[in-house]
Amino acid sequence: MLNNLKGKSAWRRYGQWGGCLLLLATSLLANLPAYANPMGRPATPGAAPTPVNTRAKEADHPIFLPMIRQGAVASNTAQQRDCLAPEQTYGRMFASLPSATWNIDDLQLLALKSMAEEELDPTPEGEVDDEENTDIDAGYTYVGQFIDHDLTLDDRPNDLTTPIDPQTVKNFRTPQFDLDSVYGAGPTLSAQLYEADGMHLKLGAPLTGSSDSGAADLLRDNNGQAIIGDPRNDENRIVAQLHTVFIRFHNKIVDSVRQAKPQLSASQVFSEAQSLVLWHYQWAVLTDFLPTIVKPQIVQAIVRLNPTPNGPRWQTTLRYYNPCMNMPVEFSVAAYRFGHSMVRALYRLNSTLPNRLPVFSNTAETTLNLGGFSPAPSNFAIDWKFFFPMSAPRQVGIPQASYKIDGSLVYPLSLLPLPATGSGPANLAQRNLLRGMQLGLPTGQEVARAMGVRPLRDDQILVGKASGDAADTVAITTISPAFAGKTPLWSYIFAEATANAYKVQDGHTVGEQVAPFRLGAVGGQIVAETIVGLLKADPTSLFNNSFQPSPAFTSPGGKFGFKELIRAAIAD
Ligand code: HEM
Repeated sequence: MLNNLKGKSAWRRYGQWGGCLLLLATSLLANLPAYANPMGRPATPGAAPTPVNTRAKEADHPIFLPMIRQGAVASNTAQQRDCLAPEQTYGRMFASLPSATWNIDDLQLLALKSMAEEELDPTPEGEVDDEENTDIDAGYTYVGQFIDHDLTLDDRPNDLTTPIDPQTVKNFRTPQFDLDSVYGAGPTLSAQLYEADGMHLKLGAPLTGSSDSGAADLLRDNNGQAIIGDPRNDENRIVAQLHTVFIRFHNKIVDSVRQAKPQLSASQVFSEAQSLVLWHYQWAVLTDFLPTIVKPQIVQAIVRLNPTPNGPRWQTTLRYYNPCMNMPVEFSVAAYRFGHSMVRALYRLNSTLPNRLPVFSNTAETTLNLGGFSPAPSNFAIDWKFFFPMSAPRQVGIPQASYKIDGSLVYPLSLLPLPATGSGPANLAQRNLLRGMQLGLPTGQEVARAMGVRPLRDDQILVGKASGDAADTVAITTISPAFAGKTPLWSYIFAEATANAYKVQDGHTVGEQVAPFRLGAVGGQIVAETIVGLLKADPTSLFNNSFQPSPAFTSPGGKFGFKELIRAAIAD
């Protein structure tokens, strides 16, 4: 596991992951690789952490400045919100609910039970795997991760246990759908991301292996480190190529704006293209991603597109989100981490690679897994039909399904690369559960009651794979009685999704699956309200501008989702 990753390579990979912000801060770290000392972590095992002056760091590295869209109203959400709290920290959606605590050993046990064992004999390709959520294509997992990296980054060291007030924790991403992960701080302040014309974003080396002739890796420096707005988008090959799809979409739109309006200056073209990219992306989030991962009835009650005599109008109803709470930790540390359970163990990238590849494994050999933070093997071009329904008819594996939103994470997610002497767990379930307690989250049951929803009974809170085989799950209270009536919010949202998909009682699923695995009353409400609330609070978002996706990109019926965005981006 962790210790099998040797010395520098392990430091390197973790540093780029956990200490994203220092990726470009080589000047701070003189003789060390840039990735070796994320956020004050000891560069030498056993040495005291070096204090890092965050302000100086941001000033030195303009890529981390909050993005201000050229030509758009500068980010004035603080004024709009009329809030005293600074907007760049975290907050609580249910601030009056008590913070839940457990014995750390109990959380560790829950984390271990939430992590599947290594699958030594995986379900063969072409057969349906009982962990697959056939209602959600695998691409949505990485759209979810990409969105996460646009909205929230709590980049602190490996202390996951000292309680901390979310209001004091800085969010290193703007809590807006502004793709600061892609645009950085724009062509002037993040010039390294842009072509000399100040309009197009740069791509890296071409990739082969699929029919997508424009497929490319991320732009990289001589050390192979990605030069992008948020280094986490290099964490695996799928999210990395999704990032390049966004770059290609932006570049396409730049070309069409230039063609349509040759009189515009470069900065005007950039600004207009950027707004169009963002609004298309926001449209796809609202109309495609959200109803795919949250029960549609919940989405409908929060956001609707109503026909009016003056054209369609968005209508929103928020019950718990208010813009003064900043990025709610109920979203960033629990509900929106639902995506960790959608990650598959194995993925097929294209038809030319002989095998599916594990999302992570214990090898530094880049051709053997999909772990990132290094140049992609040249034949790793993604054929998007394996991730979205790009071509009809559907077949098993085309596209691949995501895994179920249930109380089980695949084994490779217990292999997060960490420094050999690091203090943080390499197991993602442990990190999520500890982080949730550290930031003072309430229990799932408390949130349900606060929403006027009847909480699930303890025997309905399942941990483990909701495969349909009763033996694969247990009731949470069999792990420890400490969880009686008191489920960590992250685990609770999985239990809800499972209880939507199956009848659940006595710690097991009963009978056949009856509905898709989607986020339910608590998880779905937190996720949908936060996404809609962030868009509402942003005066430059599609809610505050009349926008319809370009008919050049839509499918019949006017649909514009992530499939359509990818199709538009990669079209010759
Ligand atoms: C292979 C896929 C993924 C890997 C390896 C991964 C790994 C991680 C890691 C290591 C963290 C930091 C944990 C901590 O220390 O607290 C994290 C945070 C997070 N992840 Fe993932 N993740 C993946 C996919 C996803 C997906 C699909 C989603 C959502 C749909 C997601 C949502 C989040 C969120 C919201 C955070 C908190 C970000 C922050 O506020 O800093 N992740 N993930």
